[in-house]
Amino acid sequence: METISLWCNARLATLQGGTWGLVDGAAMLVGGDSLLWVGPLAELPAQWRARTTAEHDLGGALVTPGLIDCHTHLVYGGQRAREFELRLQGASYEEIARAGGGIRSTVAATRAASNGALLAAARKRATALMAEGVTTIEIKSGYGLSLADEQRCLALARQLGRELPLAVRTTYLGAHALPPEFDGRADDYITAVCAWMPQLHALGLVDAVDAFCENIGFSPAQTRRVFEAARALGLPVKLHAEQLSNQGGAALAAEFGALSCDHLEHLDTAGIGAMRAAGSVAVLLPGAYYFLRETKMPPIAELRAQGVPMALASDHNPGSSPGLSLLLMLNMACTLFRMTPLEALQGVTLHAARALGLADRGTLAAGQRADFVAWDLDHPNELAYWFGHNPCRRVVVGGTERIR
Ligand code: NIG
Ligand code: FE
Repeated sequence: METISLWCNARLATLQGGTWGLVDGAAMLVGGDSLLWVGPLAELPAQWRARTTAEHDLGGALVTPGLIDCHTHLVYGGQRAREFELRLQGASYEEIARAGGGIRSTVAATRAASNGALLAAARKRATALMAEGVTTIEIKSGYGLSLADEQRCLALARQLGRELPLAVRTTYLGAHALPPEFDGRADDYITAVCAWMPQLHALGLVDAVDAFCENIGFSPAQTRRVFEAARALGLPVKLHAEQLSNQGGAALAAEFGALSCDHLEHLDTAGIGAMRAAGSVAVLLPGAYYFLRETKMPPIAELRAQGVPMALASDHNPGSSPGLSLLLMLNMACTLFRMTPLEALQGVTLHAARALGLADRGTLAAGQRADFVAWDLDHPNELAYWFGHNPCRRVVVGGTERIR
Protein backbone atom coordinates (compact mmCIF):
# COMPACT_ATOMS: atom_id res chain seq x y z
CA MET A 1 0.00 0.00 0.00
CA GLU A 2 1.24 3.47 -0.82
CA THR A 3 2.39 5.51 2.16
CA ILE A 4 0.27 8.59 2.68
CA SER A 5 1.84 10.99 5.16
CA LEU A 6 0.08 13.73 7.02
CA TRP A 7 2.21 16.77 7.80
CA CYS A 8 0.29 18.77 10.37
CA ASN A 9 0.51 21.68 12.79
CA ALA A 10 1.91 24.17 10.29
CA ARG A 11 1.40 27.77 9.30
CA LEU A 12 1.47 27.58 5.51
CA ALA A 13 2.45 30.29 3.06
CA THR A 14 0.98 28.58 -0.01
CA LEU A 15 1.73 31.53 -2.35
CA GLN A 16 -1.52 30.87 -4.16
CA GLY A 17 -3.61 33.67 -5.65
CA GLY A 18 -0.84 36.25 -5.88
CA THR A 19 -0.63 36.60 -2.08
CA TRP A 20 1.20 34.92 0.80
CA GLY A 21 -1.75 32.50 0.94
CA LEU A 22 -1.44 32.07 4.71
CA VAL A 23 -3.25 29.09 6.26
CA ASP A 24 -3.03 28.54 10.00
CA GLY A 25 -3.59 25.21 11.72
CA ALA A 26 -2.77 23.66 8.38
CA ALA A 27 -1.97 20.19 7.16
CA MET A 28 -0.61 18.67 3.97
CA LEU A 29 -1.13 15.12 2.76
CA VAL A 30 1.77 13.66 0.82
CA GLY A 31 1.55 10.58 -1.39
CA GLY A 32 4.63 9.54 -3.37
CA ASP A 33 6.37 12.72 -4.47
CA SER A 34 3.21 14.85 -4.60
CA LEU A 35 0.91 16.88 -2.41
CA LEU A 36 -2.50 15.19 -2.34
CA TRP A 37 -4.33 17.67 -0.19
CA VAL A 38 -3.49 21.06 1.44
CA GLY A 39 -5.64 23.08 3.87
CA PRO A 40 -6.72 23.64 7.47
CA LEU A 41 -6.52 20.33 9.37
CA ALA A 42 -10.11 20.84 10.55
CA GLU A 43 -11.25 20.59 6.92
CA LEU A 44 -9.35 17.42 6.03
CA PRO A 45 -11.93 15.04 4.55
CA ALA A 46 -12.51 11.92 6.65
CA GLN A 47 -11.69 9.54 3.78
CA TRP A 48 -8.23 11.11 3.43
CA ARG A 49 -7.64 10.92 7.18
CA ALA A 50 -8.54 7.23 7.10
CA ARG A 51 -5.93 6.54 4.42
CA THR A 52 -3.11 8.26 6.31
CA THR A 53 -0.33 5.85 7.24
CA ALA A 54 2.21 8.23 8.84
CA GLU A 55 2.02 11.50 10.69
CA HIS A 56 4.57 14.30 11.14
CA ASP A 57 4.16 17.24 13.52
CA LEU A 58 5.65 20.47 12.18
CA GLY A 59 5.46 22.10 15.62
CA GLY A 60 3.61 25.20 14.43
CA ALA A 61 6.41 26.14 12.04
CA LEU A 62 6.00 28.43 9.06
CA VAL A 63 6.08 26.31 5.87
CA THR A 64 6.75 27.58 2.35
CA PRO A 65 7.26 25.83 -0.97
CA GLY A 66 10.82 24.60 -1.48
CA LEU A 67 13.05 27.37 -2.82
CA ILE A 68 14.14 27.31 -6.47
CA ASP A 69 17.44 28.79 -7.63
CA CYS A 70 16.71 29.22 -11.34
CA HIS A 71 20.08 30.62 -12.53
CA THR A 72 23.45 29.25 -11.40
CA HIS A 73 26.82 28.39 -12.90
CA LEU A 74 27.69 25.84 -10.22
CA VAL A 75 30.17 23.58 -12.05
CA TYR A 76 33.59 25.17 -12.54
CA GLY A 77 37.22 24.91 -11.48
CA GLY A 78 39.26 27.46 -9.54
CA GLN A 79 38.20 30.82 -8.18
CA ARG A 80 38.72 34.49 -9.06
CA ALA A 81 39.56 36.25 -5.78
CA ARG A 82 42.55 37.91 -7.45
CA GLU A 83 40.24 39.40 -10.08
CA PHE A 84 38.10 40.77 -7.23
CA GLU A 85 41.20 42.52 -5.85
CA LEU A 86 41.95 43.99 -9.28
CA ARG A 87 38.41 45.29 -9.57
CA LEU A 88 38.69 46.88 -6.14
CA GLN A 89 41.79 48.66 -7.42
CA GLY A 90 39.79 50.10 -10.31
CA ALA A 91 39.85 47.54 -13.15
CA SER A 92 36.40 46.91 -14.62
CA TYR A 93 34.77 43.50 -15.24
CA GLU A 94 34.84 44.25 -18.99
CA GLU A 95 38.55 45.25 -18.96
CA ILE A 96 39.50 42.05 -17.17
CA ALA A 97 37.45 40.00 -19.63
CA ARG A 98 38.97 41.74 -22.65
CA ALA A 99 42.46 41.13 -21.26
CA GLY A 100 41.77 37.38 -21.30
CA GLY A 101 40.84 37.07 -17.62
CA GLY A 102 37.28 36.74 -16.46
CA ILE A 103 35.26 33.82 -17.84
CA ARG A 104 38.27 32.63 -19.87
CA SER A 105 40.40 32.12 -16.77
CA THR A 106 37.67 29.93 -15.29
CA VAL A 107 37.49 28.01 -18.57
CA ALA A 108 41.20 27.19 -18.26
CA ALA A 109 40.78 26.09 -14.63
CA THR A 110 37.70 24.02 -15.49
CA ARG A 111 39.38 22.23 -18.39
CA ALA A 112 42.35 21.43 -16.15
CA ALA A 113 40.23 20.01 -13.32
CA SER A 114 39.37 16.33 -12.97
CA ASN A 115 35.76 15.16 -12.90
CA GLY A 116 36.20 14.27 -9.25
CA ALA A 117 37.47 17.73 -8.36
CA LEU A 118 34.71 19.49 -10.31
CA LEU A 119 32.04 17.31 -8.76
CA ALA A 120 33.37 17.73 -5.21
CA ALA A 121 33.47 21.52 -5.56
CA ALA A 122 29.99 21.67 -7.10
CA ARG A 123 28.62 19.34 -4.42
CA LYS A 124 29.87 21.66 -1.67
CA ARG A 125 28.20 24.63 -3.36
CA ALA A 126 24.93 22.76 -3.89
CA THR A 127 24.98 21.62 -0.26
CA ALA A 128 25.35 25.22 0.93
CA LEU A 129 22.34 26.30 -1.14
CA MET A 130 20.32 23.30 0.03
CA ALA A 131 20.95 24.19 3.68
CA GLU A 132 18.77 27.26 3.14
CA GLY A 133 15.82 25.31 1.76
CA VAL A 134 16.68 25.11 -1.94
CA THR A 135 14.99 22.05 -3.45
CA THR A 136 15.39 22.77 -7.20
CA ILE A 137 18.38 24.31 -8.92
CA GLU A 138 19.31 25.16 -12.46
CA ILE A 139 22.95 24.60 -13.45
CA LYS A 140 24.45 26.05 -16.63
CA SER A 141 27.46 24.84 -18.52
CA GLY A 142 29.63 27.52 -20.09
CA TYR A 143 33.06 27.01 -18.56
CA GLY A 144 34.02 24.09 -20.80
CA LEU A 145 33.50 25.65 -24.25
CA SER A 146 34.56 22.50 -26.12
CA LEU A 147 32.25 19.60 -26.89
CA ALA A 148 34.04 17.29 -24.45
CA ASP A 149 34.20 19.85 -21.64
CA GLU A 150 30.64 21.13 -22.04
CA GLN A 151 29.47 17.51 -22.01
CA ARG A 152 31.54 16.79 -18.90
CA CYS A 153 30.11 19.78 -17.01
CA LEU A 154 26.50 19.02 -17.99
CA ALA A 155 26.92 15.35 -17.08
CA LEU A 156 28.39 16.32 -13.70
CA ALA A 157 25.39 18.59 -13.09
CA ARG A 158 23.07 15.67 -13.85
CA GLN A 159 25.13 13.45 -11.55
CA LEU A 160 24.71 15.95 -8.71
CA GLY A 161 20.96 15.70 -9.18
CA ARG A 162 21.13 11.91 -8.84
CA GLU A 163 23.41 12.00 -5.79
CA LEU A 164 21.73 14.73 -3.80
CA PRO A 165 18.15 15.16 -2.63
CA LEU A 166 17.85 18.08 -5.03
CA ALA A 167 16.16 18.48 -8.42
CA VAL A 168 18.66 19.70 -11.03
CA ARG A 169 17.78 21.30 -14.38
CA THR A 170 20.60 21.75 -16.86
CA THR A 171 21.12 24.59 -19.33
CA TYR A 172 23.59 24.50 -22.21
CA LEU A 173 25.50 27.81 -22.25
CA GLY A 174 28.12 27.02 -24.89
CA ALA A 175 27.75 30.62 -26.11
CA HIS A 176 29.13 32.06 -22.85
CA ALA A 177 32.53 33.30 -24.07
CA LEU A 178 34.89 32.76 -26.95
CA PRO A 179 37.44 30.03 -26.12
CA PRO A 180 41.08 30.86 -27.02
CA GLU A 181 41.25 28.29 -29.84
CA PHE A 182 38.56 30.31 -31.68
CA ASP A 183 40.22 33.72 -31.24
CA GLY A 184 39.04 36.09 -33.96
CA ARG A 185 36.54 33.49 -35.22
CA ALA A 186 33.42 34.07 -33.17
CA ASP A 187 31.08 33.07 -36.01
CA ASP A 188 32.93 29.77 -36.43
CA TYR A 189 32.62 29.18 -32.69
CA ILE A 190 28.86 29.74 -32.88
CA THR A 191 28.74 27.19 -35.70
CA ALA A 192 30.45 24.73 -33.36
CA VAL A 193 28.13 25.58 -30.44
CA CYS A 194 25.15 24.86 -32.70
CA ALA A 195 26.69 21.62 -33.98
CA TRP A 196 27.36 20.33 -30.45
CA MET A 197 23.80 21.06 -29.31
CA PRO A 198 22.05 18.03 -30.90
CA GLN A 199 24.80 15.75 -29.63
CA LEU A 200 24.46 17.00 -26.05
CA HIS A 201 20.68 16.87 -26.34
CA ALA A 202 20.80 13.28 -27.63
CA LEU A 203 22.70 12.37 -24.47
CA GLY A 204 19.84 13.79 -22.39
CA LEU A 205 22.00 16.56 -20.98
CA VAL A 206 20.08 19.67 -22.02
CA ASP A 207 16.84 21.05 -20.57
CA ALA A 208 17.28 24.57 -22.00
CA VAL A 209 19.70 26.69 -24.03
CA ASP A 210 21.21 30.01 -22.93
CA ALA A 211 23.67 32.56 -24.38
CA PHE A 212 25.55 35.66 -23.21
CA CYS A 213 24.42 38.46 -25.54
CA GLU A 214 26.75 41.34 -24.74
CA ASN A 215 29.54 43.43 -26.21
CA ILE A 216 32.00 41.15 -24.36
CA GLY A 217 29.89 38.10 -25.22
CA PHE A 218 28.03 37.36 -28.46
CA SER A 219 26.13 39.65 -30.82
CA PRO A 220 22.36 39.50 -31.33
CA ALA A 221 22.96 37.90 -34.77
CA GLN A 222 25.12 35.18 -33.21
CA THR A 223 22.63 34.69 -30.40
CA ARG A 224 19.87 34.29 -32.99
CA ARG A 225 21.78 31.43 -34.60
CA VAL A 226 22.03 29.65 -31.24
CA PHE A 227 18.30 30.12 -30.67
CA GLU A 228 17.46 28.80 -34.13
CA ALA A 229 19.45 25.65 -33.40
CA ALA A 230 17.58 25.28 -30.09
CA ARG A 231 14.22 25.77 -31.80
CA ALA A 232 15.07 23.10 -34.36
CA LEU A 233 15.50 20.67 -31.45
CA GLY A 234 12.40 21.88 -29.59
CA LEU A 235 14.53 23.16 -26.72
CA PRO A 236 13.42 26.22 -24.75
CA VAL A 237 15.74 29.22 -24.58
CA LYS A 238 16.83 31.76 -21.96
CA LEU A 239 19.24 34.67 -22.25
CA HIS A 240 21.85 36.63 -20.30
CA ALA A 241 20.43 39.90 -21.60
CA GLU A 242 21.13 43.62 -21.13
CA GLN A 243 23.50 43.04 -18.19
CA LEU A 244 26.21 45.57 -19.07
CA SER A 245 24.62 47.31 -22.07
CA ASN A 246 21.40 47.29 -24.07
CA GLN A 247 21.77 44.90 -27.02
CA GLY A 248 18.07 44.31 -27.65
CA GLY A 249 18.67 40.77 -26.41
CA ALA A 250 15.45 40.52 -24.41
CA ALA A 251 13.32 41.32 -27.47
CA LEU A 252 15.28 38.77 -29.49
CA ALA A 253 14.80 36.11 -26.82
CA ALA A 254 11.11 36.96 -26.58
CA GLU A 255 10.81 36.37 -30.32
CA PHE A 256 11.84 32.78 -29.56
CA GLY A 257 9.33 32.51 -26.70
CA ALA A 258 12.12 32.55 -24.10
CA LEU A 259 11.37 31.06 -20.71
CA SER A 260 13.33 33.92 -19.18
CA CYS A 261 15.61 36.87 -19.76
CA ASP A 262 18.16 37.29 -17.00
CA HIS A 263 20.10 40.23 -15.44
CA LEU A 264 18.28 43.05 -17.36
CA GLU A 265 19.90 46.11 -15.77
CA HIS A 266 19.84 47.89 -19.16
CA LEU A 267 16.44 46.59 -20.32
CA ASP A 268 14.36 49.21 -22.18
CA THR A 269 10.62 49.69 -22.66
CA ALA A 270 10.57 47.82 -25.98
CA GLY A 271 12.26 44.84 -24.33
CA ILE A 272 9.76 44.85 -21.47
CA GLY A 273 6.85 44.90 -23.93
CA ALA A 274 8.32 42.00 -25.90
CA MET A 275 8.88 39.95 -22.74
CA ARG A 276 5.36 40.63 -21.57
CA ALA A 277 3.88 39.56 -24.90
CA ALA A 278 5.98 36.38 -24.93
CA GLY A 279 5.29 35.53 -21.29
CA SER A 280 9.03 35.49 -20.48
CA VAL A 281 10.08 35.74 -16.84
CA ALA A 282 12.50 38.51 -15.77
CA VAL A 283 15.18 36.79 -13.70
CA LEU A 284 16.85 39.42 -11.52
CA LEU A 285 20.27 38.77 -10.06
CA PRO A 286 21.00 41.17 -7.21
CA GLY A 287 24.17 39.27 -6.25
CA ALA A 288 25.86 40.16 -9.56
CA TYR A 289 24.56 43.74 -9.39
CA TYR A 290 26.02 44.07 -5.89
CA PHE A 291 29.32 42.30 -6.51
CA LEU A 292 30.07 44.21 -9.72
CA ARG A 293 29.04 47.40 -7.91
CA GLU A 294 26.60 48.26 -10.69
CA THR A 295 24.66 51.47 -10.36
CA LYS A 296 21.99 50.99 -13.02
CA MET A 297 19.07 49.09 -11.57
CA PRO A 298 16.85 46.79 -13.60
CA PRO A 299 13.54 48.59 -14.41
CA ILE A 300 11.61 46.93 -11.57
CA ALA A 301 8.76 49.44 -11.42
CA GLU A 302 8.05 49.08 -15.13
CA LEU A 303 8.31 45.29 -15.06
CA ARG A 304 5.87 45.31 -12.16
CA ALA A 305 3.51 47.73 -13.90
CA GLN A 306 3.55 45.62 -17.06
CA GLY A 307 2.88 42.43 -15.11
CA VAL A 308 6.10 40.69 -16.17
CA PRO A 309 6.75 37.96 -13.57
CA MET A 310 10.00 38.57 -11.70
CA ALA A 311 12.19 35.74 -10.42
CA LEU A 312 15.35 35.98 -8.31
CA ALA A 313 18.40 33.75 -8.41
CA SER A 314 21.88 33.52 -6.95
CA ASP A 315 23.66 33.55 -10.36
CA HIS A 316 26.34 31.70 -8.43
CA ASN A 317 29.58 31.91 -10.46
CA PRO A 318 33.21 32.73 -9.64
CA GLY A 319 33.33 36.08 -11.45
CA SER A 320 30.25 38.18 -10.86
CA SER A 321 28.42 36.48 -8.00
CA PRO A 322 30.44 34.09 -5.83
CA GLY A 323 27.68 33.88 -3.20
CA LEU A 324 25.92 30.77 -1.98
CA SER A 325 22.89 32.18 -0.19
CA LEU A 326 19.55 32.44 -1.97
CA LEU A 327 18.04 33.98 1.17
CA LEU A 328 20.54 36.83 0.93
CA MET A 329 19.22 37.46 -2.59
CA LEU A 330 15.74 38.00 -1.13
CA ASN A 331 17.10 40.61 1.23
CA MET A 332 19.14 42.30 -1.51
CA ALA A 333 16.17 42.31 -3.89
CA CYS A 334 14.31 44.38 -1.30
CA THR A 335 17.12 46.65 -0.14
CA LEU A 336 18.84 47.20 -3.52
CA PHE A 337 15.98 46.73 -6.00
CA ARG A 338 13.04 47.87 -3.83
CA MET A 339 11.10 44.72 -4.44
CA THR A 340 8.58 43.76 -1.77
CA PRO A 341 9.20 40.76 0.51
CA LEU A 342 6.23 39.02 -1.17
CA GLU A 343 7.70 39.63 -4.63
CA ALA A 344 11.05 38.33 -3.38
CA LEU A 345 9.53 35.07 -2.12
CA GLN A 346 7.45 34.67 -5.29
CA GLY A 347 10.73 35.20 -7.16
CA VAL A 348 12.34 32.09 -5.66
CA THR A 349 9.23 29.92 -5.79
CA LEU A 350 6.48 30.16 -8.41
CA HIS A 351 8.17 32.63 -10.72
CA ALA A 352 11.46 30.74 -10.54
CA ALA A 353 9.58 27.55 -11.44
CA ARG A 354 8.11 29.29 -14.46
CA ALA A 355 11.57 30.53 -15.50
CA LEU A 356 12.52 26.85 -15.69
CA GLY A 357 9.34 25.82 -17.48
CA LEU A 358 8.20 23.78 -14.47
CA ALA A 359 4.48 23.88 -13.67
CA ASP A 360 4.61 21.25 -10.92
CA ARG A 361 6.27 23.30 -8.19
CA GLY A 362 6.48 26.74 -6.62
CA THR A 363 3.26 26.77 -4.61
CA LEU A 364 1.70 24.55 -1.96
CA ALA A 365 -1.38 23.01 -3.57
CA ALA A 366 -2.78 19.58 -4.33
CA GLY A 367 -1.06 18.15 -7.40
CA GLN A 368 2.20 20.03 -6.87
CA ARG A 369 5.43 18.26 -6.02
CA ALA A 370 5.85 17.77 -2.29
CA ASP A 371 8.82 20.14 -1.95
CA PHE A 372 8.49 22.27 1.15
CA VAL A 373 10.51 23.94 3.91
CA ALA A 374 9.70 24.49 7.59
CA TRP A 375 11.22 27.68 8.95
CA ASP A 376 11.92 28.96 12.42
CA LEU A 377 9.91 32.10 11.63
CA ASP A 378 6.47 33.54 12.33
CA HIS A 379 5.74 35.26 9.02
CA PRO A 380 7.11 34.72 5.48
CA ASN A 381 8.09 38.39 5.21
CA GLU A 382 10.93 37.51 7.59
CA LEU A 383 12.62 35.50 4.83
CA ALA A 384 13.61 38.78 3.19
CA TYR A 385 14.22 40.58 6.47
CA TRP A 386 16.90 38.60 8.32
CA PHE A 387 20.24 38.27 6.60
CA GLY A 388 23.38 36.32 7.39
CA HIS A 389 21.14 33.94 9.32
CA ASN A 390 19.62 30.62 8.36
CA PRO A 391 16.19 29.90 9.88
CA CYS A 392 15.67 26.71 7.83
CA ARG A 393 14.50 23.91 10.11
CA ARG A 394 13.28 20.99 7.97
CA VAL A 395 13.20 20.30 4.23
CA VAL A 396 11.06 17.82 2.30
CA VAL A 397 12.00 17.09 -1.32
CA GLY A 398 9.74 15.01 -3.53
CA GLY A 399 7.85 13.79 -0.47
CA THR A 400 10.92 12.64 1.46
CA GLU A 401 12.47 14.50 4.36
CA ARG A 402 16.04 15.51 3.75
CA ILE A 403 18.23 14.51 6.67
CA ARG A 404 20.83 17.14 7.41
O1 NIG B 1 25.83 35.54 -15.15
N1 NIG B 1 27.30 37.27 -17.57
C1 NIG B 1 27.84 36.22 -17.85
N2 NIG B 1 27.97 35.17 -17.06
C2 NIG B 1 28.07 35.20 -15.65
C3 NIG B 1 29.41 35.62 -15.17
C4 NIG B 1 30.44 34.65 -15.55
C5 NIG B 1 31.81 34.90 -15.00
O2 NIG B 1 32.22 36.06 -14.77
O3 NIG B 1 32.50 33.90 -14.81
C6 NIG B 1 26.94 36.00 -15.05
O4 NIG B 1 27.13 37.06 -14.44
FE1 FE C 1 24.68 34.04 -15.14
